[in-house]
Amino acid sequence: MYLFNKLVIFFLPLIPKFIVRMVSKRYVAGPVLEDGIRVVKELNSKGICATMDVLGESVKKLEECEESIQEYFKVLDRIHEDQLDCNISVKLTQLGLLIDKEQCYQNIKRIVEKADKMKIFVRIDMEDSSVTDDTIDIFLRLHKKYKRTGIVLQAYLRRSLNDLKKLSKQKINFRLCKGIYIEPRSIAFKDPAIINYNFALLMDVAFKAGCYVGIATHDEKVVWHGLQLIHQYKLKRDEYEFQMLLGVDEELRDILVASGHRLRVYVPFGKRWYAYCVRRLRENPKIALYVIKAMFGLR
Ligand code: FDA
Repeated sequence: MYLFNKLVIFFLPLIPKFIVRMVSKRYVAGPVLEDGIRVVKELNSKGICATMDVLGESVKKLEECEESIQEYFKVLDRIHEDQLDCNISVKLTQLGLLIDKEQCYQNIKRIVEKADKMKIFVRIDMEDSSVTDDTIDIFLRLHKKYKRTGIVLQAYLRRSLNDLKKLSKQKINFRLCKGIYIEPRSIAFKDPAIINYNFALLMDVAFKAGCYVGIATHDEKVVWHGLQLIHQYKLKRDEYEFQMLLGVDEELRDILVASGHRLRVYVPFGKRWYAYCVRRLRENPKIALYVIKAMFGLR
């Protein structure tokens, strides 16, 4: 795996942009808002809800944040006008978290205020562990006033159980995922089986506490645990949801929808699609393996 990772990182800059676009088409709606809206409408017509993400992260200058804020405003307007079954997902480093935490809070607050007026939910994505504390702080400040906000917890982080215990007092709405960033063993579980156990444990604690969980995974073993807990706690359809990334395991997605579960697909779009794809692959070359397997219909 080490060698494979090194090879992916080495060859990445040599792959022509049009090939990256061809492969990423399945996972990224396209470069402009209309692409995202088209994909969301297609999903909605199949009874699947969505969350839209304007691609971008880790901005280096505060002036760059305004562009993302304006793009999110346009997304909110379209969701509202077209009555889409869709919310939005936002990364705080796209809104300046790495430069000025207070300014980042003011930026996300503008988006949340507008969304709240339109009764649209805002999910704050979770990024790497260097920003976990700040992301939770900002979420808690927002959540005091705006209840249509949620956060993400990562099952691979050793700290997540403690974070959940704190957050669950407010019966929060959170997305639970495994976690995508490469983290040191001191703070993140490395064994895939332990990550799955922790995922199941976190779901259990959350459901017991009355939280709404967005079960974000394509791993059928984790989905099974989720279904088992939904059954055990006799949860109604509107007390949880499954979430999946655009273009990943549509067969499992359709099975869940046909069984009557609410399912939300994460729809990224935006002109920064290339930087996003390259960065994701650099950070976690394992994704390249998933993409290659999916291209050849392997699981
Ligand atoms: P696992 O990694 O075991 O994958 C199971 C199978 O799914 C793979 O074998 C492969 O076939 C397929 N697969 C998974 N990911 C794929 C991909 N990217 N491309 C192609 N095939 C793929 N992470 C994070 O740190 N912060 C966040 O805010 C979010 N947000 C988020 C939203 C939603 C809706 C989802 C589904 C996921 C995230 N993630 C995330 C990513 C998450 O942490 C995790 O990295 C991926 O979901 C992969 O983990 P699985 O649970 O699917 O298991």
